[in-house]
Parts: sequence; structure tokens; C-alpha cells
Amino acid sequence: MSRTALITGITGQDGSYLAEFLVAKGYRVHGVVRRTSVHSTGRIDHLLRERDGAIPPVETHIGDLTDPFAVHRIVQRVRPDEIYNLAAQSHVGVSFEAPLPTASVTALGALHVLEAVRATDWPIRLYQAGSSEMFGTVRETPQSETTPFAPRSPYAVAKVFAHHMTVHYRDAYGIHASNGILFNHESPRRGEQFVTRKVTKGVAEIVAGRRSTLTLGNLTARRDWGYAPEYVEAMWQMLQQPVADDFVIATGETHAVEEWVATAFSLVGLDWRGFVVTDERLRRPTEVDSLRGDARKAEAAFGWRPRTGFHGLVKLMVAADLRRVGVDPSQFPELAS
Ligand code: NAP
Ligand code: GDD
Repeated sequence: MSRTALITGITGQDGSYLAEFLVAKGYRVHGVVRRTSVHSTGRIDHLLRERDGAIPPVETHIGDLTDPFAVHRIVQRVRPDEIYNLAAQSHVGVSFEAPLPTASVTALGALHVLEAVRATDWPIRLYQAGSSEMFGTVRETPQSETTPFAPRSPYAVAKVFAHHMTVHYRDAYGIHASNGILFNHESPRRGEQFVTRKVTKGVAEIVAGRRSTLTLGNLTARRDWGYAPEYVEAMWQMLQQPVADDFVIATGETHAVEEWVATAFSLVGLDWRGFVVTDERLRRPTEVDSLRGDARKAEAAFGWRPRTGFHGLVKLMVAADLRRVGVDPSQFPELAS
């Protein structure tokens, strides 16, 4: 009997990779999609089409995480074995401008999912998408599952709430619920407002002659960047453990935003200093200065390890954005291999 998974946030970067991964594993996959005035399923359209007359591998359900009735109704209708709660207002910078909507979906949305699981009369394994942003003004380096949280943004505060609620529902009601504390993970499907993709898209557009500058904020912040398809595998692995627990997923390496920028430009033979301008307005009221994760617990429990390093990640994202603007990446020696 094939298993059934429900993914909230299925239209996002991680949701799309996770849906592909679970379909390949033979799962029947359902996703929660909110009503939007523009097309929002571009990352999963290939999973929503019929294949050789067979029903599409993914089915969507209209719903908003801020609506507890919708969440409850969809869970009852789908009767999933596993739920991956990935839906969030996930942009840290935006959360300063929109703290209430961020709290509604990122914090209370997670509670709505927990309540819907608590109300079922069958067992469900739940994954909650936690974040390294929760470590904020980091109390130790590298950060692990035992590092105290010190959030620095409305987004991070909302994620801390969701994290503690998930632990609470596990303890109080015996729900198999796990928090993944994932450090930044990127891909060609990354939203264009996040710094990695903004940079690789900007580089491609400069090469294609569509623009001449790229405006960024704080270049000194440091992040632990990994490759998103590898991180969604860890989400699934967490739910296969006999006992629910919380796990950090990270590469263990940290790099400054400036290094990402310099590497992306150098791959196409350009010096970033001739193209990047900084704008104070893109700085956040409070910043997370440096993140570096320790994923040894996940490695010991289920053998998870990152496979793509910093340089390889920048390379694959620059190459993908060049192809998008009609430029063949192989003309650049560093991208040819
Ligand atoms: P993303 O690309 O921004 O996707 C967010 C998803 O949430 C989208 O499908 C979005 O739908 C959906 N969503 C937003 N508000 C919603 C609402 N009110 N009701 C229902 N769905 C809603 O984020 P991601 O990078 O894939 O990240 C997935 C999860 O992991 C998020 O919870 C994020 O906070 C967390 N996380 C991400 C990272 C990372 O580095 N990527 C690291 C740690 C944790 P629309 O398409 O309609 O906007
Ligand atoms: N977005 C953005 N845009 N960030 C910029 C820019 C810019 O123009 N210029 C500099 N930065 C800096 C930010 O100030 C931050 O220090 C760093 O680049 C990374 O910013 P983002 O790419 O927006 O990611 P994030 O680290 O804030 O948040 C992401 O990772 C978290 C995990 O730690 C998101 O995916 C969160 O949802 C996730 O939880």
C-alpha cells in the first residue's frame, strides 16, 4: 500500500523538491495551495499533469494556513500518513514590515496543523520546518540542537513559537512530530528575493546585457548555505525514525554574502566591485551576523551529510540563471566542467 503525504507550502522551493522526492518514493502526494491572483504552481506544474493517461502524481487542495477550518478539513479529507508543514511567510526582511501576517502563518499556521493532527483518529508523522534564524545572536558556534534560541526578527520569533509548540504537542499528546532546524539552503528554484538567487539572477542579466548594476544590502553577514534537494531528503528521513526528535541540517561551513557575490561574478570572468552597489534601505533593523551549523546528530541518526559544497552551489545556480536568459554557460571556462 502506498503511503500518503500532505505538504503545506508545496508551491515553494522546498515543497516542489520534496513533492518530487516523495513521488519518486511511491507516495501519493497532496499539497495545500492558496488562492492567488497570479499563477503560483510553476514549480510543481510538471507534477500536476496526467502522465500516459494515469492520474497526476500530485493533487492540490485550496487552503490557507491562517484558516484552521481549512487545515482541519484538508487533513480529514486526505488522511495523510505524513505531513510536512513548510508553509510560511519565509522572508526575514519582509517580516519586519509584516509582523502580523508573518505570525499568522508562520507561528499560528503551525499550531493549526498541530491541532488538526491532534484531532485525527489515525497516526500521523509531522515535520515542522524550523530555521537556523532561531539562533539569532548566536550563543555558541557551531549551532546544534542544544544551542539556545535568541531570535532577531519577527520571522524568527514566529519560528521559535512553532518549534516549542511542536515539542509540546509531542510531549503532551504523543504525536510523532519532529522539528528540522535547517540552515539556509538554495537552488535554481530559490525565490528571487533571497540574496543567493538575487545575485545569480543579477549576474546572468548583466552578462546578457539586460542590466548594468545590482543593488544589495549587508555584505558582511555570514551564512551556512547548502543545496535544497539534499535538505528535503533529511525532512523525509526524520519522519522515518522510530522516535520523533529535532535535528539540525547544515553544511558546517560559513561564508560571507560578499564571498557569494565575488564567486558568482568571478565564474563569468567579472569583478563584482564594478557592478554591485549597496543601499542602506536593504539592511534589516536587526541582523543575524553569522550562522554555522553542526549536523552531526542527523549524521549519526540517519546518515545525512551534505554533498554539494559552497563553490558547486554557486556554480549550479549561476549556470541555471544564465540558461534562463539564453546564455550558454559552457562559454565560461569555470562553468564548462
Ligand atoms: P518559500 O519558497 O518561500 O515557500 C513558502 C511556501 O509557503 C509557499 O508555497 C507559499 O505559497 C506558502 N505559503 C505562504 N503563506 C501561506 C499561507 N498563508 N497559506 C498557505 N501557504 C502559504 O520557502 P522555502 O524556502 O521553500 O522554505 C520552506 C519552509 O522552510 C518555510 O517554512 C521556511 O520558513 C523554512 N526554512 C527555509 C529555509 C531555506 O533556507 N530555504 C531554511 C530554514 C527554514 P505561495 O507560493 O502561494 O506564496
Ligand atoms: N534578501 C536579501 N536581499 N538579503 C540580502 C541582500 C538583499 O538584497 N543584501 C544582503 N543581504 C543579506 C541579508 O541581510 C542576510 O544577512 C543575508 O543576506 C541572507 O539573506 P536572505 O537570503 O534573505 O536569507 P536569510 O538568511 O535572511 O533567511 C533565509 O534563511 C533562513 C535560514 O537561516 C530564509 O530562507 C529563511 O526562510 C530561513 O529560515
